[in-house]
Amino acid sequence: MAKYDLNNKVVLITGATGGIGAATARELANKGANLVLVDLDEEKLKALAAEFQQGQALVAPGDVTDAARMKEIVDEAVATYGKLDVALANAGIAGNPPSTSLTASREEVEKVMEVNIMGVWRTVHPCLEEIVKNNGYVMITASVYSFFNGVANLPYATSKAAVEMMSRSLRAELAGSGAKAGALYPGWVKTPIIEQAFGGNEIATNMIKGALPAFMRTPIPAERLAKAAVKGMEKRATRTIEPKFWAMFSAFRGLFQNGTDLLLDVHKKNHGQLRKLDDWNRERLAKQNS
Ligand SMILES: NC(=O)c1ccc[n+]([C@@H]2O[C@H](COP(=O)([O-])OP(=O)(O)OC[C@H]3O[C@@H](n4cnc5c(N)ncnc54)[C@H](O)[C@@H]3O)[C@@H](O)[C@H]2O)c1
Repeated sequence: MAKYDLNNKVVLITGATGGIGAATARELANKGANLVLVDLDEEKLKALAAEFQQGQALVAPGDVTDAARMKEIVDEAVATYGKLDVALANAGIAGNPPSTSLTASREEVEKVMEVNIMGVWRTVHPCLEEIVKNNGYVMITASVYSFFNGVANLPYATSKAAVEMMSRSLRAELAGSGAKAGALYPGWVKTPIIEQAFGGNEIATNMIKGALPAFMRTPIPAERLAKAAVKGMEKRATRTIEPKFWAMFSAFRGLFQNGTDLLLDVHKKNHGQLRKLDDWNRERLAKQNS
């Protein structure tokens, strides 16, 4: 299949100043793409844009959950560069601190789903007309959590399963239009979100250590993930998975999911750790409220 050349393409990236977003922006800039950088903090966006050639990056502060602002940003991108070819819907957050649904706050859980699901939708939807017009590509950042059990990480894993389906449905809906969509599945990547999700919480860290061998949970550098993401864009791939060993778990997910669900049902040590996590969260909340 012919390579989708990113030179002179206009690529919108949300979560652009985060670990994966910024590394991917740098990789795309090297390929000659023009960038529309979307994130919450304008100063960080300006600092990132300053790394690129004059005029190569549009600084577009915005919250992905704000549908009106996202539409405005797409209009600004088209006014600046004359078109929009690719959207990387990448902004995301994790529940912080880790908790089960018994002790999680409703607001915190719903915020994760709002940013990670509705934020992706509100990013992609206003881009579609331009992307179809230009035979472009939508890449949605999912996760190995799209098919990995979300125990103690329910809103995050739920959101990643949802956006995986968004990318698959969208790809099928765009078929024949000239445009394509696909999902990016990072494994563990060394960025601030890992700290947010697990850092500082010994119980959650021990649970992950117990569940996965070291090679699976050792974070890879964001630059490695970004290279894979850009290769995926050049193929307008259905799935881009990095590290690649996760592709096997995705391919055999029926077996993998049934096996892990069964194991988690009967794993007494894990049950104990979950109750410990609940106790830790109850204590934390009691201190906060006193
Ligand atoms: N790091 C990993 O191990 C990992 C694994 C799988 C998937 N992911 C996904 O990759 C994506 C990028 O994460 P990262 O690892 O670079 O983390 P990160 O925390 O470094 O970056 C996330 C970025 O999203 C931005 N953001 C958050 N809420 C926003 C909002 N409402 N509007 C606009 N921007 C917002 C943040 O400001 C931040 O810059 C996320 O969707 C994450 O879920 C990360």
